[in-house]
Amino acid sequence: MTAVFKPRRSALYMPGSNARALEKARTLDVDCLILDLEDAVVPDAKELARRQIVDAVTEGGYGEREVVIRINGLGSPWGEDDLAAAVRAGPDAILVPKINNPPDLQRIAHKLSVHGASRDLELWAMMETPEAMLNAGAIGACGKDPEVRLSCFVMGTNDLAKETRARLTPGRAAMTPWLMTCVAAARAGGIDILDGVFNAFQDEEGFAAECAQGVEMGMDGKTLIHPKQIGPCHAAFSPSDEEVAWARRINAEFDKPENADKGAIQVDGKMVERLHAEMGRRAIAIADAIAARG
Ligand code: COA
Ligand code: MG
Repeated sequence: MTAVFKPRRSALYMPGSNARALEKARTLDVDCLILDLEDAVVPDAKELARRQIVDAVTEGGYGEREVVIRINGLGSPWGEDDLAAAVRAGPDAILVPKINNPPDLQRIAHKLSVHGASRDLELWAMMETPEAMLNAGAIGACGKDPEVRLSCFVMGTNDLAKETRARLTPGRAAMTPWLMTCVAAARAGGIDILDGVFNAFQDEEGFAAECAQGVEMGMDGKTLIHPKQIGPCHAAFSPSDEEVAWARRINAEFDKPENADKGAIQVDGKMVERLHAEMGRRAIAIADAIAARG
């Protein structure tokens, strides 16, 4: 609704060890960038990746794109140094893998304060362990605690498949209960949620189907692994022109003085309630934010 609304339709991962990708990211039409220090980087390249990410983020040039650094877990040999370096670099958010419960997040939030992180720095949580699926509601509720600064869930479907032994199949039948539980947990906590990656990046049809499924589930966007996934992802997660026009229309109707005291009205032969107008405002906000980028 406000000018600061940030669509999170797409979030492209890139290995911090890949200097070319970090450079290319400055030119890609993507909403969020996830500069990775974790799974995409082998142990021998961790320090190089950390240096490259700090340099790239400090140098900037990422424009409107939200810049997110995914650190290694605090239980790993690199986590603490990653966290300190990420705070120093000053991205928009830090993404933490393998969150199991609220104390995991609270510990990280505390460390962020100790390192003197800016109040604007947000925390994103990977939802990718069996424990997290069982504790999703409590983890999502951290979204209500300003001290924790949690603003987004990222579904880690590859890790979830590994840890649970559930299969990632077309249609994701086995994953669906967890994905929907996390959507509910995110909404209850007032935060965003991004769908997991689609590994077969050459399979355009399969990718489009999974994007459509993410939209249907209520995901705000999808995490991506390759630039060629950005266009189709935006096509799926951007509100259509018709949807935006309709949203503007019904909001304009409710704004009329004669409708000020009405909860339901008729527009083009359809019953419309204030909740529809409210739902439409999100589509308008996304469309306005995209248009403002020019
Ligand atoms: N971010 C930014 N740029 C990327 C990119 C990414 N994730 N993946 C590919 N590119 C760039 C390449 O650098 C190349 O650019 P150039 O031709 O201008 O030099 C171009 O896109 C085409 O790349 P392509 O040859 O098709 O792919 P690749 O074989 O170089 O890389 C992967 C394939 C899967 C290794 C790569 O896409 C990748 O690393 N993805 C992200 C993996 C990741 O971060 N995983 C962790 C979370 S699941
Ligand atoms: Mg992982």
